[in-house]
Amino acid sequence: MGKIDKQQLVRAAARARERAVAPYSKFKVGAALLAKNGEIISGANVESASYGLTCCAERVALFNALTSGKKNFVAVAVVARAPGGPMPCGACRQLLAEYAPEAKVWVADSRALAKIREFTVRELLPSAFVIP
Ligand code: THU
Repeated sequence: MGKIDKQQLVRAAARARERAVAPYSKFKVGAALLAKNGEIISGANVESASYGLTCCAERVALFNALTSGKKNFVAVAVVARAPGGPMPCGACRQLLAEYAPEAKVWVADSRALAKIREFTVRELLPSAFVIP
């Protein structure tokens, strides 16, 4: 597999977004993780009639990857119809800090996939909780 670039990972997140299950908010989010070995693992948000059970795209992608034996993530792309792209929520930042601490976070608006903003997990969640 060739080297995956930012744009390709964002496109993978946009494709994953098409499989979002968001009948309540109608806010579809797609996420794609890039493992060091070049593999891409994706996910999308899934909502529940019991709203609080909803799971964000980032966590679906992360749980999908982790339970498929993937690790060492170098980047995660997140796409939604949101100006500037969707910023991961606090819960997802915690999980990213634990399982993808070195990952770059690339976010893009689904209407402007070429305009990618980049963050680090560390800057999104400084001083993350860890079990001492
Ligand atoms: N959502 C995500 O998938 N990722 C985020 O980072 C923030 C929010 C989802 C959860 C819910 O299905 C919808 O967006 C509206 O909050």
